[in-house]
Amino acid sequence: MSEKIKKNAKTVDVFLKKFLNRQKYSALLSPMRYGTLTGGKKIRSTIIFNVAKIFKLKHNQIINACAAVECIHSYSLIHDDLPCMDNDSLRRGKAATHTKFGESTAILAGNSLLTLAFEIIMDTKFKIRPDKKIFLTKRLAEYSGHTGIAGGQFLDLNYENRKVGISSILSMQKKKTGKLFEFCCLAPAMISGASKKTIREMSVIGEEVGLLFQIADDLLDVKGNKKNVGKPVKKDKRKGKSTIIKLLGYNKTLEFALKRKKMIIRKLNKYGNKSDELIKTLNFILDRSY
Ligand code: IPE
Ligand code: IPE
Ligand code: MG
Ligand code: MG
Ligand code: MG
Repeated sequence: MSEKIKKNAKTVDVFLKKFLNRQKYSALLSPMRYGTLTGGKKIRSTIIFNVAKIFKLKHNQIINACAAVECIHSYSLIHDDLPCMDNDSLRRGKAATHTKFGESTAILAGNSLLTLAFEIIMDTKFKIRPDKKIFLTKRLAEYSGHTGIAGGQFLDLNYENRKVGISSILSMQKKKTGKLFEFCCLAPAMISGASKKTIREMSVIGEEVGLLFQIADDLLDVKGNKKNVGKPVKKDKRKGKSTIIKLLGYNKTLEFALKRKKMIIRKLNKYGNKSDELIKTLNFILDRSY
């Protein structure tokens, strides 16, 4: 499985590299490349590829969506590591972007990756119908901003060292991580011309996959090893992060996650073996060591 994920990551990296090479020169391109191209599982792209299989899409109908999502994800990590946020200096096995280039440069490179994502979706070489591009752009904006990643990140920091209930934690995690995965699952359905009902169903599945991914990330923070995950571990407890693990403990959280994974797989039943690859990715999400 991980071989397939690596292959997908390579495909998106090649596309992104070319896209960045076509940009006019600026001094921010170097930290932007550093923050996106050097490492990362690109698991969100794998999810897009997996869902594209269900809806029978070709590579050139989804590759821009993959690259855009990875730019937004990388931007969120660059900012997540800043001293005013999680204050971490190791990311993807190397110095965090702000550690290598300085804080102001990291903020600006992050901002530029966020806007680059929209250039990628709107690129004339991305041959999907204009009304579909508009739909995707609107969703991507919504899921990145105050009701998505940024809003979730605000709550994540706001909830540090506080007693927070499970529904608030789930809602915060669905925003900071779930929404981008939601995009990954709805975009291929939308691009293929699926019904509103199907797009809605894929949205719900995507948000759940994202939540599962964040819970797995929290579990890795407890049991993972720094060398494998490429970032500091055992940091959530130290920072007083409000996670499901803080409420339920490690084992109950793992059980909780397994139950949610089964629930997602049940929802995918109707797609038969077309969803096999997506299910493999779901298994990877919980079993992974990196
Ligand atoms: C880490 O995401 C941050 C979360 C949203 C949990 P990834 O584990 O996808 O990070 P990379 O891109 O592979 O480094
Ligand atoms: C990050 O969550 C979520 C984002 C949207 C960036 P974490 O803060 O747990 O991610 P890591 O553990 O630093 O990768
Ligand atoms: Mg964080
Ligand atoms: Mg962090
Ligand atoms: Mg984490």
